[in-house]
Amino acid sequence: MYSSKIIGMGMYVPENVVTNEDLSQIMDTSNEWIKERTGIEERRHIQKGDGNTTAVMGVKASKIAIERAGIDKNDVDLILFATLSPDYYFPGSGVIVQKLMDLPNCPAMDIRNQCSGFIYALSTADQFIKTGMYKNILVIGSENHSGGLDMTTRGRGVSVIFGDGAGAVVVGRSEEKGILSTHLHSDGTFAEELALIGPSTQRWVPEILKANDPEDISYYPNMNGQLVFKNAVVRFSEVIMEGLQQNQLTPDQIDMLIPHQANLRISQFIQKKFGLSDDQVYNNIMRYGNTTAGSIPIALTEAWEEGKIKSGDLVVLAAFGSGFTWGSALIRW
Ligand code: UT7
Repeated sequence: MYSSKIIGMGMYVPENVVTNEDLSQIMDTSNEWIKERTGIEERRHIQKGDGNTTAVMGVKASKIAIERAGIDKNDVDLILFATLSPDYYFPGSGVIVQKLMDLPNCPAMDIRNQCSGFIYALSTADQFIKTGMYKNILVIGSENHSGGLDMTTRGRGVSVIFGDGAGAVVVGRSEEKGILSTHLHSDGTFAEELALIGPSTQRWVPEILKANDPEDISYYPNMNGQLVFKNAVVRFSEVIMEGLQQNQLTPDQIDMLIPHQANLRISQFIQKKFGLSDDQVYNNIMRYGNTTAGSIPIALTEAWEEGKIKSGDLVVLAAFGSGFTWGSALIRW
């Protein structure tokens, strides 16, 4: 068996900053409510005409990751693209990245696991490297939420939370142990508790158009926030513990925990539960909101750029979200 390692990272967020104050101009919300309940102060939204799409942002992050990995783009053996907001219904955004970057005819695969999408993609990359099938895998998490949110008071419970952005890593074959283990779970019982139902094969576009119902909110994301919150704190804790136990490690040995940026209160709950200091947990939800599949690779890249991750560190990534799906990855940096 080979070992796998993250050998390069990059991130990209659109330039357009949308503050809580900006949102309070278009819906009944306030800076105080958003900050107190979520920790978010601002997020980035794609602007019409700025050229960004889910794949385009993924390309911008990937170019940095590939350069930092020190590989040629033609050495990419597999593209894994995690997103819930692909450029098109089909094909996936992975092949769009391949086209835009003029990458070789390697396979490109989209991963549909929402907030846990990056962990699922990282785990998939890890398996392909460890078995020896591939040497360099480009793993992207990217979201364009802003175009598909209900930006009225009706949608405020969801729309104030999400932001746009992308992160990417290159996972490479390595001599030394990098990714120690990954842990994936899902529970479809809760599939509709955080979901976007229409348009879909349950609600084809002609049916929606024919109904022409301005009150139809099925094409906006819908979230049972409190239920998601309650499950998140339990599952985050479980899946981090599962990873530590499998590697005979204890919480105090974590050098950097990077939780999916869903809500600052969730991160703080986990931090307290594991007795971690502020230096052991990285949060940037204040600046970007919840960028779903983009959130972990964006946070990982920022933490690394700020010098908060050093060689030999134990880095723990963890996520929970729609599906419900959840997962963790333990990495010796
Ligand atoms: O990344 C995927 C996983 N997602 C998550 O982990 C999200 C988990 N859930 C959460 O983070 C929280 O549940 C939210 C931040 C979404 C909501 O916070 P909450 O403390 O659970 O609020 P709530 O939904 O119970 O709403 C409380 C009140 C309601 O008013 P009433 O019924 O008490 O009068 C809402 O209508 O706050 C109201 N409200 C708002 N007020 C101002 C909901 N959204 C807003 C808003 N601005 N944006």
